[in-house]
Amino acid sequence: IIPPAAFLRLLSDRLAAPFWELLTQASAQAEQRGWHLYLVGGGVRDLLLAKQNGAAPLYLQDIDLVVDGFHRTADVGAGVELARALQQLYPAARLEIHGAFQTAALLWHKDPIFGSLWIDIATARTEFYPYPAANPEVEASSIRQDLYRRDFTINSLAVRLTPPRAGEMLDFFGGLLDLQAKQIRVLHANSFIEDPTRIYRAVRFAVRLEFAIEPQTENYIRYAIDSGVYKRTQGNNSRAPALQTRLKNELKYILQAPYWQAALSLLGDLDALQCLHETLKLDKTLWQQLRFLERCLRRFNRESRKSKVKSQNVPIPPWLLRLEVLIAYLAPEYRDRVAQNLQLPDDSIYRLRHLQQAQERVSTALPSCRLPSQVFDLLRQYDLPMLILIALRSPRPVRSLVWQYVTQWANVQPLLSGHDLKQLGYKPGPQYRQILDDLLAATLDGIIRDRTEAESYLFEHYPR
Ligand code: CTP
Repeated sequence: IIPPAAFLRLLSDRLAAPFWELLTQASAQAEQRGWHLYLVGGGVRDLLLAKQNGAAPLYLQDIDLVVDGFHRTADVGAGVELARALQQLYPAARLEIHGAFQTAALLWHKDPIFGSLWIDIATARTEFYPYPAANPEVEASSIRQDLYRRDFTINSLAVRLTPPRAGEMLDFFGGLLDLQAKQIRVLHANSFIEDPTRIYRAVRFAVRLEFAIEPQTENYIRYAIDSGVYKRTQGNNSRAPALQTRLKNELKYILQAPYWQAALSLLGDLDALQCLHETLKLDKTLWQQLRFLERCLRRFNRESRKSKVKSQNVPIPPWLLRLEVLIAYLAPEYRDRVAQNLQLPDDSIYRLRHLQQAQERVSTALPSCRLPSQVFDLLRQYDLPMLILIALRSPRPVRSLVWQYVTQWANVQPLLSGHDLKQLGYKPGPQYRQILDDLLAATLDGIIRDRTEAESYLFEHYPR
């Protein structure tokens, strides 16, 4: 147990000075109004985990504060009032108020002092879940109950910032011990049933902090999944869309993190990919596809950095393409529904809806292509992400041709333009398209190699 004075010292020592100043101001404002103010959640966890000696001062990006009033009704808006008072002191911050939950946020974006900082200020509350996987309803209540509704013990620590007993650590659920033991533990057995996104959070914290999921907590995860907790998120009930959005955010968080492979592997062990669809399994073939995707992404990012050719960029973020690979691994009849449930962007939904048809077409037609221009004609209708999806799911000969197309043939530049045709005395009209396509095909097939050859070819095949 850390004595209060020592913890305050720890805060002032480890935090970069402007952050400490900000917490001091916030606490003074709360004290003037007769409230308690607490630093809670990830900030406390990260402060305790931060390297002790010689480390650079901590710049927090997220600060969670909770105001605890003494009078249940009078102080319902305490968090909002405190945020307003702080904004007066820090006019550079933007204030956001979320009425129904009595929370307020102060945001700094690319600030010269704070960088990007997001402070959430909540009023202590209990969240009741009227039925599992529903949105919390709100009522003013005490800090203990506020902490009890949180996901893991290591996130349910609080430090009181206001006197008396400023610096006192509130650890109702054994969070300090779990930090030491490096384990992720839920506060109660129903945690994952109430909020299935926490399964993803458990995995994310475990991998990121290099912690283990405590065995009983792992049992709760498996129980929640076995009992079909994800079905509720996929069904037709009114809460499903909000839950799906949160699931997508957690998936995004994981799939864009540098540790995404370890996290995905742990999700696979827990069979938690069922959140996408009950049939989804992370097996050897799916891993191979994901690895192929990484090679594509590395190759294209390198190419586009080197050559600055815009068309070489994979035009969607890697996390989304990884998610598309996971969804594409489902049987075709499930893909569309899953993509729509997750509210993916329109072009992702389009790809997943048409992937099967495109893949069948490509695998039937490609083997009989004899010339690069025929491959070009077949594949030009698909965008790069669709071609990557097709390639990673196809046998080697098809994959090689698709690869050759996206890395070489798709970038072949025409030797003559419409402007050139005009200069050479061709009357502008619909046949320009045909001529230019024909010239490009001849270039692709190596029949013409430079402008002079292109002009001779032109005069021979299209007399003026
Ligand atoms: N929380 C929760 N259940 C969720 C999401 C969040 O209980 N499904 C709680 C956690 O206690 C967490 C706090 O809300 O500490 C803030 O959420 P978030 O900012 O996502 O978590 P951090 O712990 O700050 O994580 P990170 O360091 O990744 O930002």
